[in-house]
Amino acid sequence: MPKIVVFTGAGVSAESGLGTFRDSDGLWEHYRVEDVCTHEAWLTNPQLCVKFYNDRRRDTLAAKPNAAHIAIAKLQQVFPDTQIITQNIDDLHERAGAKGVVHLHGEITKLRSSLNETATVPLQGWEQHYGDRHPDDGSLLRPYIVFFGEGVPYFEEACHIAAMADIMIVVGTSLNVYPAASLLHYTKPGIPVYFVDPGQPEFGVWADRITHIKKKATEGVPELVEHLIREYRQTEDPLN
Ligand code: APR
Repeated sequence: MPKIVVFTGAGVSAESGLGTFRDSDGLWEHYRVEDVCTHEAWLTNPQLCVKFYNDRRRDTLAAKPNAAHIAIAKLQQVFPDTQIITQNIDDLHERAGAKGVVHLHGEITKLRSSLNETATVPLQGWEQHYGDRHPDDGSLLRPYIVFFGEGVPYFEEACHIAAMADIMIVVGTSLNVYPAASLLHYTKPGIPVYFVDPGQPEFGVWADRITHIKKKATEGVPELVEHLIREYRQTEDPLN
C-alpha cells in the first residue's frame, strides 16, 4: 500500500464557503495582516485579534465539509497510512472523518496559553471572551493560531511525514507562506506530486514534477482519489 500524504491550504475549504487569503476578495483584502495576524498585533491590539478569529470561528462552525474533504477522508480509510497536513485552521477535515490531521498554523476550535505555544484548551461555541485565563499557567488565553513572526511548532513533524511519502497530493494553496510552502522540498526525489487547484500557483522548481489538476477541489480531488484507489488498492483475487 502506498504511503500518501495530503497537504492542503485554504482552497480545499473555499467551496465550503470559507474565504481564502489571496484570491480576489480574499481575507487579506479586508483585513491588514499586521492588524490581526502577527505577534505584534496580539501584543498591541489583542481585542481586535480576538474579534477577527471569533468571526472566522463563527463562519467555520456554520460551514460543512465539502466533497474534497470527504474524498480525502475516504482515501485515508482505503489507505490507512495516509496522513494529512493542513495550513488551515478549520476543522472540516476532521468533520469529514479524517484522523490525525497535522495543523501547521493552528486550530480555530482551540485557544492556547500566552506562555506555552502548545498548551491548548478546547473552546465551546464560537466566541472567545478576551481576558479568560489558561487553567494551568494562568496566562491570558489567545487564539491557537500561528501568527506571522511566530514559530511553526509542528513543521518538523510535517517534514518527517513528507519525507516518507510515496505519493504527495497538494490541494488549494498558493505556496506563498513559509516554512509550510517548503514542505515539497522534503519529499523523496521522483515521487508523483499531484496539485489540485483551479488557479496557477507559482510552482517554481517543481513545475516539471507536478501533475497539475487545474480544477476546483470538489471536482479534482474526488476524481484523483478514485483514480488512486483503482490504481493502488490491492484487491485479493477471490479465485486465487
Ligand atoms: N479549489 C481548489 N483550490 C482553490 C479553490 C477551489 N475551489 N479556490 C481557490 N483555490 C486556490 C487558489 O488558486 C490559491 O492557489 O487556493 C489557493 C489559496 O491560496 P491562499 O489564499 O494564499 O491560501 P493558502 O495558500 O492556504 O495560505 C497559506 O497564508 O495567510 C496565511 O496562515 C495563512 O494558512 C494560510 C497561509
